[in-house]
Amino acid sequence: MTDMVAYETHGAVAVLRLQNPPVNALSQAVRQALMQGMDRAEADPGVRAVLIVGDGRAFIAGADIKEFGKPPREPHLPDLCDRIEASPLLVVASMHGVSLGGGLEVALSAHYRIAQPEARIGLPEVHLGLIPGAGGTQRLPRLTGAKAAVEVITSGRHVPADEAARLGIIDRVEAGDPQAVGLACAQALLASGAARRPVSEMPAPAPIDWDATYAKVLKKGRGQLSPAQAVRAVQASAELPFADGLAAERRIFQELMATDQRQGMIHAFFSERAVSNLSELASVAPRAVEAVGVIGGGTMGAGIATSALLAGLSVVLVERGQTAAEAARARIAGNLDGALNRGKLTQERHDALLGQALEVVTDYAALADVDLVIEAVFEDMAVKTAVFAELDAVCKPGAVLATNTSYLDIGEIAAQTSRPSDVIGLHFFSPAHVMKLLEVVVPDQTVPDVVATGFALGKRMGKVAVRSGVCDGFIGNRIMRAYRTAADHMVLDGATPFEIDAALTDFGFAMGPFAVSDLAGLDIAWAMRKRLAPTRDPRERVGRYPDTLCEAGEFGRKTGKGFYLYDAGSVEPNPEVMELVMAERAERGITPRGFSPEEIQRRYMAAMVNEAAKIVGEGIARRPLDVDMVLLFGYGFPRYHGGPLKWADLQGVDTVLADIETYAREDDFFWQPAPLLRQLAAEGRCFDDLNKAPQT
Ligand code: CAA
Repeated sequence: MTDMVAYETHGAVAVLRLQNPPVNALSQAVRQALMQGMDRAEADPGVRAVLIVGDGRAFIAGADIKEFGKPPREPHLPDLCDRIEASPLLVVASMHGVSLGGGLEVALSAHYRIAQPEARIGLPEVHLGLIPGAGGTQRLPRLTGAKAAVEVITSGRHVPADEAARLGIIDRVEAGDPQAVGLACAQALLASGAARRPVSEMPAPAPIDWDATYAKVLKKGRGQLSPAQAVRAVQASAELPFADGLAAERRIFQELMATDQRQGMIHAFFSERAVSNLSELASVAPRAVEAVGVIGGGTMGAGIATSALLAGLSVVLVERGQTAAEAARARIAGNLDGALNRGKLTQERHDALLGQALEVVTDYAALADVDLVIEAVFEDMAVKTAVFAELDAVCKPGAVLATNTSYLDIGEIAAQTSRPSDVIGLHFFSPAHVMKLLEVVVPDQTVPDVVATGFALGKRMGKVAVRSGVCDGFIGNRIMRAYRTAADHMVLDGATPFEIDAALTDFGFAMGPFAVSDLAGLDIAWAMRKRLAPTRDPRERVGRYPDTLCEAGEFGRKTGKGFYLYDAGSVEPNPEVMELVMAERAERGITPRGFSPEEIQRRYMAAMVNEAAKIVGEGIARRPLDVDMVLLFGYGFPRYHGGPLKWADLQGVDTVLADIETYAREDDFFWQPAPLLRQLAAEGRCFDDLNKAPQT
């Protein structure tokens, strides 16, 4: 037996203690050692029960993520689970920390389960594009009933021990050393003459309305297959004998293994972890940050301040006058009330954050002691440079000076200070206390420990931080401009904004681009168009009809009218939009043509991929996965496609390039293929090859 599972006996109980730090993942060596441990216990005279327990911080966090993508090696997890359950000995699992995926499936194969109060269990396989594949979909419903099992499996959420006990997943919650508690439980069971209790022998769950549940889950997942297929697997547990149910689970698992969605989800899973892991920062310590300054208390500044408070930082917010300061405090209070109502913080903590941790002032002098300042004032170079001059005068040496600009040249802002190497961009997304994305925008002169501080702050705030170089719009907004333009061109050429939105929600986006514009406010893009107008190339095609909407004061949701009409909860296409569009087409001499949903999706995605490839090729994003994470966490890109560049890999880089070359025959100004896309296609490589290449 390897040292992955320690074996010892305590009277009639054999203890199998997993010791595969940090989280006892079920690697091949662990699976084999558990098999051998079961063999040994069964051969051990005098042993009548087995206790499975984990060393360190968790029972078992599931399959070993280091083995993902490699050919599976025996013993396979389903065989191990069946082996454990079929043992003639009485098997107890004592759980602490997390028991996830295969880890919970091992526990479900035991005959009794006991857990520490802080333990959490879950079947997160749907987040990897899969379903539980070692009996989880068959055993869990026999313990909880179908409805609860569907909820736990399709959400993939972590269930706290007390709830798991209420649901019938674990038998008892008891505080103490997991091994001691488990041993006492096993000994008591033996003493009471308790029988083995295999879950597979329990009655099948009662049926629910499977088709309605399937449809509901598919809709909620916006086309994600794995949760919906999990419903079918649970259905099998209710309708088939256990062994046939297991076979059905296996068949669905294998089908999902072969899908692009599974690849997209796995890519997202690893990229989410890799994105903030920058080799250049591996040995760079961030500066200590406990007190944060925020300049400006509008929606963005208040959101940033809220996020900092929730991360346990103290905040000094500077506004221009007393009225604005009061409004800023009210906004932050509103955000914190929301967190309180959603159960994210207690009343006591809510009051402490608003009381002791937050100071709202009108004088920059209050920033003398803060460790980091984030400026979130009006998007105008003159206004920002004035703020930075003030910051330079009052902030202590070593304080990090950050701007939340969305597109301005941060190098130019930094140049207004005597310490440009301490200046960085921290670009939050609205609402900043909710959205997970943080672009850490790094101008040339910024020193590495300031960059590391940006990433450390992002981590502390629970954000997904992505490094971006400086360019107009940075990674996300620059790409958005490209795919928005593709959508606008389709409208000029014959599609309706509503067809485009529908095609893209079908693709899996939370919202289509025109609905997003209405939500953001049409005045934002209008201001951008006006800013860009003087420098625009005359070959660029820009529709005028959105300007006409804005000139009439129609700014989207906030005015009740934009691309859509908003009235007491109902949302309808605004008929005026198509009148304006048709008038503009006539004026430009365009004969409109139809666009299929598939063509809409392909053009939109081609524009997104092309700009993303330019951004990677120029070094603005270091790796394709950086772009993928920006789109996933800031722009509602469907996780199951992995991100635009993973999507391009799955389509074939050459296929996407061929699309762009076709579109370029109509408009060779907008559709200029990215050099990197051409290069990868010529070399027969894909974007993911660049993710694997060592960073320079
Ligand atoms: N396999 C191998 N290593 C794992 C692991 C796993 N399943 N889960 C976590 N780790 C490692 C992490 O890589 C990390 O290692 P380093 O310290 O060397 O970087 C360490 O454990 C701690 O992880 P976190 O930093 O993420 O710590 P955390 O406390 O924030 O979270 C966790 C711990 C909840 C276990 C989280 O890591 C997590 O969710 N892990 C993934 C769990 C999972 O999805 N398991 C697979 C389920 S699917 C399955 O089991 C069936 C199947 O066949 C697909």
